[in-house]
Amino acid sequence: MTSTTSPASPASIVFETVAPGSVAYLDRLAATDLGRLYKGRMLDALDVRTGQTVLDIGCGPGTDLGALADAVSGTGTGPRTTEGTGSRTAAGTDTAARTASGSAPARSPGAVIGVDHDQVAVDTARERTAGRDTVTVHLGDVHELPLADGSVDRARTDRVLQHVADPVRALCEAHRVLRPGGRLVLGEPDWDTLTVDHPDEELSRAYTRYVTDEVIRNARIGRQLPRLAAEAGFTVPTVVPVTPAFRDVGAADKVLGLERTTRRALAAGYFTVGGARRWLDHLASGPFLAAVTFYIVVAQA
Ligand SMILES: C[S@@+](CC[C@H](N)C(=O)[O-])C[C@H]1O[C@@H](n2cnc3c(N)ncnc32)[C@H](O)[C@@H]1O
Repeated sequence: MTSTTSPASPASIVFETVAPGSVAYLDRLAATDLGRLYKGRMLDALDVRTGQTVLDIGCGPGTDLGALADAVSGTGTGPRTTEGTGSRTAAGTDTAARTASGSAPARSPGAVIGVDHDQVAVDTARERTAGRDTVTVHLGDVHELPLADGSVDRARTDRVLQHVADPVRALCEAHRVLRPGGRLVLGEPDWDTLTVDHPDEELSRAYTRYVTDEVIRNARIGRQLPRLAAEAGFTVPTVVPVTPAFRDVGAADKVLGLERTTRRALAAGYFTVGGARRWLDHLASGPFLAAVTFYIVVAQA
């Protein structure tokens, strides 16, 4: 394959040219400031109560299952209240679930369910949560969740719907398995908002066009989430756009795989050889700026 870098250029040393495995990629992203920030916001938006059942749709290698398990057991960091089967007082206590003798019943320990269609992801998630009794992980598809109607209180998807064949069907499935009044929190990027600064705007446009046309199946899912969730029967009280600005090319490369994506864009005819080299050489040496908007959407069943 034609090289996108010349041996003497800064681009030949700045970019990661070999892709990490998918588990390593997801772990690495989750450990960045950006990963911690948006995942924390999604967890807050989920508003998990002690004792609830929470579903992570497309859980990958179990990236978020530990934090969800902490939340349902009340050992997480955020302010959590308890939810049982009866009515809730303003203080969050469960009055109707008290026994006739007046003593509080044993609390449900809560449950966390991960679902993913990738066997390696499921095996990894199971290994990582082996010591947690509240967590189970199923091999399954978002279009046909292996769960009963109305069986979960909370559900989340984190960068999953951008990849699936039928996002509305996946959302209908999430609606089916949530109890009435249950909450779904969606976190998905909108790749059409990807901007990478370069003096030649045409190169920037070509890069984003390649990503939206050829790399990500549902590249504009971020902006579509409120409409698609409404189609699936949800009400959508909250939409939060999060737009990180990457000023460090190395940090951006770890998320975007700039050289590898450019190499594939070149092979697909979105860049010329000269264009690809000018593109990467400038990104590697000039002041760098890239941004992409990620939407966090709260949907109520
Ligand atoms: C970008 S990863 C995100 C994983 C995890 N949510 C995280 O934040 O680390 C997307 C995940 O969605 C899963 N996925 C994609 N399509 C799916 C489908 N149709 N059914 C179930 N899982 C799916 C993939 O296997 C992958 O683990």
